[in-house]
Amino acid sequence: MEVASVNDRESKQPQADMALYPPAFHALLIQVAALVLSLFIFSAAKFIFNFVLPAIPLLLFHSIFASALSLIRGMDWWWVLIEFIFPPAVVASLLFGLSASFSFFAFVLMLLLFWSTFRTQVPYFPSKSNLPPIILELLPPTLPFSFVDIGSGLGGLLIDLKKLRPESRFEGVEIAPLPWVISLIRVWLLRSDIKLRMRDYVRCDFSQYDVVFAYLSPAVMPGLWEKARSEMRSGAMLMSYEFIIPDVPPDMEINTGENSPVLYVWRI
Ligand SMILES: C[S@@+](CC[C@H](N)C(=O)[O-])C[C@H]1O[C@@H](n2cnc3c(N)ncnc32)[C@H](O)[C@@H]1O
Repeated sequence: MEVASVNDRESKQPQADMALYPPAFHALLIQVAALVLSLFIFSAAKFIFNFVLPAIPLLLFHSIFASALSLIRGMDWWWVLIEFIFPPAVVASLLFGLSASFSFFAFVLMLLLFWSTFRTQVPYFPSKSNLPPIILELLPPTLPFSFVDIGSGLGGLLIDLKKLRPESRFEGVEIAPLPWVISLIRVWLLRSDIKLRMRDYVRCDFSQYDVVFAYLSPAVMPGLWEKARSEMRSGAMLMSYEFIIPDVPPDMEINTGENSPVLYVWRI
């Protein structure tokens, strides 16, 4: 187990201004700005040079403007990619006459998977499989403990931990329906006693646990800290994978491997 440097910690500080509005809002404004710029170029070419810009270069301009603006805005790389792909995707769906039921099905699937990501700003992505033994090194090797994963996704972390420490109590709360149902099925198939609830972790009582584990997003960390310090028992641990709490130095920073996120630990 290796303790990370302070620089690692600083590099994970969230951008305060991006937290004011959801990234989707920035993304929408950027698409509108890119459309206006593209139309400006189209009109300039037409009225100044008497040249009608063909549709494909125009679409390319739009995509390049949108991704460049999101880069300048400091958005994450996946937003830059989404901004680039979005205009041709819209045009392609119109050109190929994508059926409304297909779009509706895709929408429902995304809704069940990501649910209130727009509000929570925490999409689903799993923690790495090397994490469970690293977490367990921080906990008493013989005494049973209680552990909650707030945002338990498909339940993989809890299942792996339970295999390693069957005597301890593991629970998960997940806000999105599809990951929650999948995690329920996995736990049922394993005949495991991991308890999984579909709810917002904000409604969860942290005083019930020795360890609260989070793999969420920078946007929610200040609120999570307020909840943790008002509810968690003295001596309990708050663990956050990848994301630090701004202005609250952790008691431990664990390097979990090359190209793997840092695990931050605060003892209450
Ligand atoms: C990055 S994934 C982490 C999955 C899992 N903890 C792991 O380590 O593999 C974050 C999960 O938190 C869920 N989530 C986001 N906001 C939440 C909230 N307010 N309450 C409960 N779950 C939430 C998301 O739906 C997503 O499945």
